[in-house]
Amino acid sequence: MERFDFPISIPFNHRVCFTREAFAVSNPLVQDLLVEGGGRRALVYLERSVADAWPMLEGQISAYFAQASLELCGIEIKDGGEAAKADDSLVRAVWDKIEKEKIDRHSYVLCIGGGAFLDAIGFGAATAHRGVRLMRFPTTTLSQDDSGVGVKNGINAFGKKNWVGSFAVPYAVVNDFLFLRTQDPEISRQGLIEAIKVALVKDGNFFAWIEENAAALAQLLPDALEECVKRSALLHARHIALGGDPYEMGSSRPLDFGHWAAHKMEQLSSFTLSHAAAVSVGLWLDVNYSVKAGLLDASSAARIGEVLEIMELPMFHETLLQRDAHGKLKVLTGLEEFREHLGGRLTVLLLRAPGIGVDVHEMNANLIEQCIEEMQYGALQVNG
Ligand SMILES: NC(=O)c1ccc[n+]([C@@H]2O[C@H](COP(=O)([O-])OP(=O)(O)OC[C@H]3O[C@@H](n4cnc5c(N)ncnc54)[C@H](O)[C@@H]3O)[C@@H](O)[C@H]2O)c1
Ligand SMILES: [Zn+2]
Repeated sequence: MERFDFPISIPFNHRVCFTREAFAVSNPLVQDLLVEGGGRRALVYLERSVADAWPMLEGQISAYFAQASLELCGIEIKDGGEAAKADDSLVRAVWDKIEKEKIDRHSYVLCIGGGAFLDAIGFGAATAHRGVRLMRFPTTTLSQDDSGVGVKNGINAFGKKNWVGSFAVPYAVVNDFLFLRTQDPEISRQGLIEAIKVALVKDGNFFAWIEENAAALAQLLPDALEECVKRSALLHARHIALGGDPYEMGSSRPLDFGHWAAHKMEQLSSFTLSHAAAVSVGLWLDVNYSVKAGLLDASSAARIGEVLEIMELPMFHETLLQRDAHGKLKVLTGLEEFREHLGGRLTVLLLRAPGIGVDVHEMNANLIEQCIEEMQYGALQVNG
């Protein structure tokens, strides 16, 4: 019997950029990125709501490619939002187009849209020819401050979030802050929950900054919004690139703080509850649980609760109250589904202090139930 082990490591450069008006002819960023990679052909996917909000954009993109002498194979305008991830029809359309336009592994797919659109198009690009270069242009707060700078893509299947997908480092991420101006204010504000999340698990100073700027963030004042998005994006990117586990082989998942309940709530709501709103409620649940488990002091939890209140982020959702035929809270099955989705041992990150997380390997169902009761009571008080 013989065995040979050959370690394979492939260096990737995770290019994360911030700009405004990425497709203004005077802005060299995109051209430089495309030229740096050597390939010269590109296919653009543009989410319909973004095209509607920015009617000049399609023409700007064509003009940009024309003056840069880069070959543009087409601008495909498609519907986005969670429906784009509900089945594989958009992914198949991407495969079709990539095949027809002869986009190869040295060409580029540029994708401009929200997190759901990026996830679906990204999965199509990552699987065509086993991976065509993807340049992401996230257009929502959530996708700019979190998902767009990540290395995952996917669509929903079997009624479960992101069940089919892949890990694939995008060729580049271009966060163009101007896109944030046309987002629905409530959705935009809710997308900041991922910034609060990463601050809570990684950077207490950033959380203190969010606290100080909570009112400006609630109003989506551009200076505060852009700084918050940028700091969050960089914390996410740094963790992914330098945290030692970019493809999530281990069990620890700090960037998924609050997400075990969030994913289950999204599913229990038949995906009518947005990811951001679900994460807000899931995060608040795990903050409360951290207190009950004796890890986090109540005054820190109160600070976090105040930020959520000022920023008008949801702190309760009725899916938390749903019970199965045996009277068990349905959200509790989210723990096992979370373990299954991530593989390995159940590992949930809880909080010791703002900026400091701690991994635990089990959660007590009775304590979770108590937290939910108190959160419901809190929500009743707020709503009168
Ligand atoms: N891949 C990952 O690592 C990862 C991480 C976190 C979340 N996600 C996924 O991201 C998705 C949520 O992303 P999201 O919060 O961006 O929501 P979204 O993509 O559903 O976009 C929200 C809404 O905003 C619209 N929109 C997008 N950009 C706009 C703009 N500039 N102006 C006006 N309207 C605009 C969209 O059409 C949609 O109706 C979820 O499916 C979630 O699972 C993925
Ligand atoms: Zn998330």
